[in-house]
Amino acid sequence: MGASQPIRSKPILTLTVNPALDVSTSTEQVVSVHKLRCSASRLDPGGGGVNVSRVVRRLGGQTLAVHTAGGATGEAYRRLIVAERVPSLVVPIEGSTRQNFTVDEATTRKQFRFVLEGPRLSEAEWRACLSALASSVPPGGFVVASGSLPPGVPEDFYARVARMVHEGGAHCIVDTSGVALTQALAEGVFLVKPSRRELGEHFDTVLDSTQSQVDAASALVATGAAEYVALTLGGAGAVLASKSGVIRLPVPPVQVLSTVGAGDSFLAGFVLRLAQGRPAEAAFRTAVAAGSAAVMTPATELCHRDDVERLEADLPAAVWLPG
Ligand SMILES: Nc1ncnc2c1ncn2[C@@H]1O[C@H](COP(=O)(O)OP(=O)(O)OP(=O)(O)O)[C@@H](O)[C@H]1O
Ligand SMILES: [Mg+2]
Repeated sequence: MGASQPIRSKPILTLTVNPALDVSTSTEQVVSVHKLRCSASRLDPGGGGVNVSRVVRRLGGQTLAVHTAGGATGEAYRRLIVAERVPSLVVPIEGSTRQNFTVDEATTRKQFRFVLEGPRLSEAEWRACLSALASSVPPGGFVVASGSLPPGVPEDFYARVARMVHEGGAHCIVDTSGVALTQALAEGVFLVKPSRRELGEHFDTVLDSTQSQVDAASALVATGAAEYVALTLGGAGAVLASKSGVIRLPVPPVQVLSTVGAGDSFLAGFVLRLAQGRPAEAAFRTAVAAGSAAVMTPATELCHRDDVERLEADLPAAVWLPG
């Protein structure tokens, strides 16, 4: 296929009920009491699903990002999405879209991430999110529901999403934590992408050994909670479990500047390749490369396509092994 010819792809829709205007900056040292003089700030339209949409687009794919927006921050957020040419369907809300604040401490290279709760959604507003989804579920395509739930949204929200996506004949992918994750898994999803901490919390344990990680991921597959479980382990790589078995991949050696958005980049790489008709093991390699490419970029910046392609080429083959 020629380079100029786009790969035929199934539709990808992302859902973000709690987006955040990401403000990032740096300062010499974070101390109490004194004013902390900061460098010029950078603004990004963040939040799980929207980040997935942004990375899919960077990697050459197409998505529709369904997200809430409200207040002056919501306006700024929408402008940034438009500037990045990410197609979106906005669900207006009364409250103001939250801001998250990331500060890089220059002297130590530590990163401080302040994550706000988000505006309370009324029942009419969260139901409007579900209606927006209901009218746009792409049959045969993929829906990525990602991020925390803001106050007011019931904890079974992603379970409702999963049911709706399933009824619409699409594949539901969920990336969240806590009770919202547990409820989505009780409904059953196509793919789930927990971190080590999130999956540990789900099983009320600490997944501190390779075997415990493989067992936990495989257990979700065995019980029908998810067809695919992509367990990400930060700098220790990732595990993919399905009925075909288990694959473990290490991360490529990269210089870590900021891990913000690594999980979202991972998921974007994964869903894009699935939508392009690639098998899960190939999608998993792109995902690990995209996650690792994201940590090479500073602050809230997401991954670059050329880094993803370069890192992916150097990853070992992804081979299914018995769980
Ligand atoms: N220190 C690292 N070095 C190399 N790659 C990394 C590192 N941390 C994360 N990654 C890459 O990013 C992927 C996802 O990372 P991680 O497990 O931290 O996700 P997450 O906890 O969901 O992140 P997020 O904070 O964005 O939600 C990993 O599987 C890996 O490919
Ligand atoms: Mg995550």
